[in-house]
Amino acid sequence: KKDGFDWFMRKEIFEQPRAVGDALLGRHSGDGQLQLDELRLSEHDLRQVDKIVIIGCGTANYAGLVAKYAIEHWTRIPCEVELAHEFRYRDPILTSNTLVVAISQSGETADTLMAVRYARLQKAKVLAICNTNGSTIPRESDAVIYTHAGPEIGVASTKGFLTQLVACYVLGLYLAQVRATKFGDEIAAVVHELEKMPAHVQQVLDGAEAVYALARKHAGTRSVLFLGRHAGFPVALEGALKLKELAYIHAEGFAAGELKHGPIALIEEGLPVFCVMPPQGRDQLHDKMVSAIQEIRARGAHTLVLVEEGDDDVDDYADEIIRLPVVPTLLQPILATVPLQLFACELATVMGHDVDQPRNLAKSVTVE
Ligand code: M6R
Repeated sequence: KKDGFDWFMRKEIFEQPRAVGDALLGRHSGDGQLQLDELRLSEHDLRQVDKIVIIGCGTANYAGLVAKYAIEHWTRIPCEVELAHEFRYRDPILTSNTLVVAISQSGETADTLMAVRYARLQKAKVLAICNTNGSTIPRESDAVIYTHAGPEIGVASTKGFLTQLVACYVLGLYLAQVRATKFGDEIAAVVHELEKMPAHVQQVLDGAEAVYALARKHAGTRSVLFLGRHAGFPVALEGALKLKELAYIHAEGFAAGELKHGPIALIEEGLPVFCVMPPQGRDQLHDKMVSAIQEIRARGAHTLVLVEEGDDDVDDYADEIIRLPVVPTLLQPILATVPLQLFACELATVMGHDVDQPRNLAKSVTVE
């Protein structure tokens, strides 16, 4: 069943090129037009939407955080992201023109399901992004986009996350098409980039051995930090979550801009810090990230930098470099997440932990 892999998680990480391809399959025409015939919401309904609220837990929440950057950029519809378990306890403002997007790999997460029920009672439209056909959350939603990752057995979400990202991009681009907030050729250009993602993910996976070597090198560490900006910020959060749940060590993700507002005090000699570099030419974010890396390096951090090919601006400040194929900023999370999955999987393996069934965790959390 594990196809020669030691863990389901590792197998699922390596299935991601296929999964990412399947999540896009059949959802666009050859000329880059999105087609979401499966969606049970009419174009009229989608034109009425004046606010989007994305709900989910854990990794699904981080997919939502990435989606916010993309959906607001492409559609100009205000988009909030909220932990499903917080959502219904704060009297959120929902109307019949609010689109609630519930992201859940399993489709059975109780916190998310309760939030879906609450949103529907408030007359909001609910769209599920889900991996499990016929599960409760899509059944109780107005519409669904299935992610087609295939069964995910490892407790840590991997291909579930990457395919959630693709589904969110498809949704954002479809909304932009229906509401004409982007020109058709701009949408087609992004679709074309998405089509190339399976090959790019495979390229990142081809570098797995180098990432495993880093994991083995840092196996004794008590703490790892993750820094990112823009769409790389949720990637940092996801990298930290993988490490917490699998390796049981302290791991935290930060927006790099927060460093000087507190977290830089954590930096000490030898502390491993993953840094997700924004692509070059991304307003000033690229240069600001270079400065952040310089600052933590000067304070003794051991920097592990994820950076696109051809960008040598951090070479002098990176202790380790992981190169990523060049893609648009908004799509970079699909690639930048993969080495962090590999790192957590290998570190936990070296530490002798059960990677597929980490202590205290269940694959789907069916109680609130
Ligand atoms: O099935 P769901 O996507 O609703 O699950 C949500 C979280 O419980 C899940 O993503 C959890 O955080 C994972 N174990 C993370 O790897």
